[in-house]
Amino acid sequence: MSERASGYLRLGVNIDHVATIRNARGGDHPDPVRAAELAAAAGADGITAHLREDRRHIRDADIARLMGEIGLPLNLEMAATPEMLSIALRHVPHACCIVPERREEVTTEGGLDAAGLHNHLKPIVDRLSEAGIRVSLFINADRRQLEAARSLGAPVVELHTGAYCDAALARESAKRDAELARLATAAREGAELGLEVHAGHGLTFDTVAPVAAMPELAELNIGHFLVGEAIFIGLDASIKQMRHAMDEARRGAGAENAGAKDRA
Ligand code: PXP
Repeated sequence: MSERASGYLRLGVNIDHVATIRNARGGDHPDPVRAAELAAAAGADGITAHLREDRRHIRDADIARLMGEIGLPLNLEMAATPEMLSIALRHVPHACCIVPERREEVTTEGGLDAAGLHNHLKPIVDRLSEAGIRVSLFINADRRQLEAARSLGAPVVELHTGAYCDAALARESAKRDAELARLATAAREGAELGLEVHAGHGLTFDTVAPVAAMPELAELNIGHFLVGEAIFIGLDASIKQMRHAMDEARRGAGAENAGAKDRA
C-alpha cells in the first residue's frame, strides 16, 4: 500500500461480515466484492479478508475475485496451514497476515504465539516472502512476540486491539488504560525493532482515536463495526466517518507531539 503522506495511517477495510450476511441465505447477495469496490471509493487504502478453514464468511471464489476485480491491495488473513499457504501462493496477494485460528471460536480471540511456534512458522514466512508477499503476524502487544516476529523475518506485525476494545466496551477504565499503554509500548518497541506496526480487532468510532493517535502505527484493519454500522448509515458513510476519526486523532497527536517538543 502506498504512503499518501508522512505519518499517514492507512485504513484496511475487512469485508468478512458482508460475506457472513450473504452466507446466511446461501445466495450471492450482499456481494463482498461490491463492498470492496465501495470501500475503495470511500477512501479505504486496502481490503482485508480472512479465509477461514471452515469458510464461514469469505470463500475461495471471493479471494479470486478480490484479486482480479479490486484496484486496492489485498491483505489475506490466514492460518498457518499447508492449505492456506498453497492458496496464498496461488493468488500472491499484496500481504498475508498470519492469524491463530480455532474452529470453535467466534472470532480471532488472541494473538499468534510467534515465539512458541517459531519452527512451524519459519518455512511459511519464508515461502510467502520469497513469493513477494508482505508477511504480517497478528500478535498480542508483547515484547517477546515482537522479537519473535523479527527473528522470523516478518516485516510487519499487527497488534491485537481486542482486549483494549473489550475493556472499553465494559467501561473498565483501569483495564482499558492498561491495555492502551501495552499497545503504545508495543507500537514503539516494534518500530524500534524495525517492524512495520499495524493494529486491529474490535475497533469502533468510540475506541479508534487513542489507537490511531499512536504515531508508530502505519495501518488499522477494521471490519465488523464498519459493516454493522453500515446497516444504519451506509457503508460509504461508515468508512468515511472512521477515516475522519483516524485523521482527527492523528492531527491531535501531531499537535500534542509538537507542543511537547516546544516545551522541551
Ligand atoms: N485484524 C485481524 C488480524 C483480524 O483477524 C480481524 C478480524 O478478522 C480484524 C483485524 C478486524 O477485526 P474487526 O472485524 O473486529 O474490526
